[in-house]
Amino acid sequence: MNLVLFIHILSATAWIGGALLLFALGIFLRDKQAQSNVYDHLGPIYGYFESFWLVTLLTTGSYMFIHHGIGEVLLYAPGSQLGQNMLHKLYAVGLIALFTVVHMVIAFKVHKSTRTTFQNILMRGSSLLIFILNIVILWYAIRIRSLL
Ligand code: HEM
Repeated sequence: MNLVLFIHILSATAWIGGALLLFALGIFLRDKQAQSNVYDHLGPIYGYFESFWLVTLLTTGSYMFIHHGIGEVLLYAPGSQLGQNMLHKLYAVGLIALFTVVHMVIAFKVHKSTRTTFQNILMRGSSLLIFILNIVILWYAIRIRSLL
């Protein structure tokens, strides 16, 4: 079980760390040409890198969910602290998966070409929401662990 938790936490550091770095690049790399060069080269690698860790997070998370019998907690005591924290974490994970798909579909579509204003809003909006949801998920993850 420790190994699964280890892989889960390792995946969380890679997934969140990658997202934070790209988010910071978007804000601090002001030179448009440099930004476009970075995204052209790094974008696709980053997409595969993040997808891999998200799948690992979902797999190891589901394993621990079953192992700890959290399904029964949600079924028989959904109002308990553990049930509530897990539900909130799962909602946030669902949203993050959705925004990640939106973000990636547009990213691959506009790769090496110019984006429309609407695509720009969707790209920036989804990446901001992913950033915020990561913080929220981390908060619930720590609470869940202290309740188990
Ligand atoms: C973006 C997705 C996710 C992230 C970033 C994430 C992050 C984390 C982190 C950092 C911990 C360790 C907390 C600590 O040690 O204090 C943790 C624990 C846990 N996560 Fe996740 N998680 C994600 C998805 C999931 C999913 C989808 C599930 C269930 C279906 C899940 C179930 C759990 C459980 C049960 C624990 C506690 C394990 C234990 O204490 O033995 N996680 N998560």
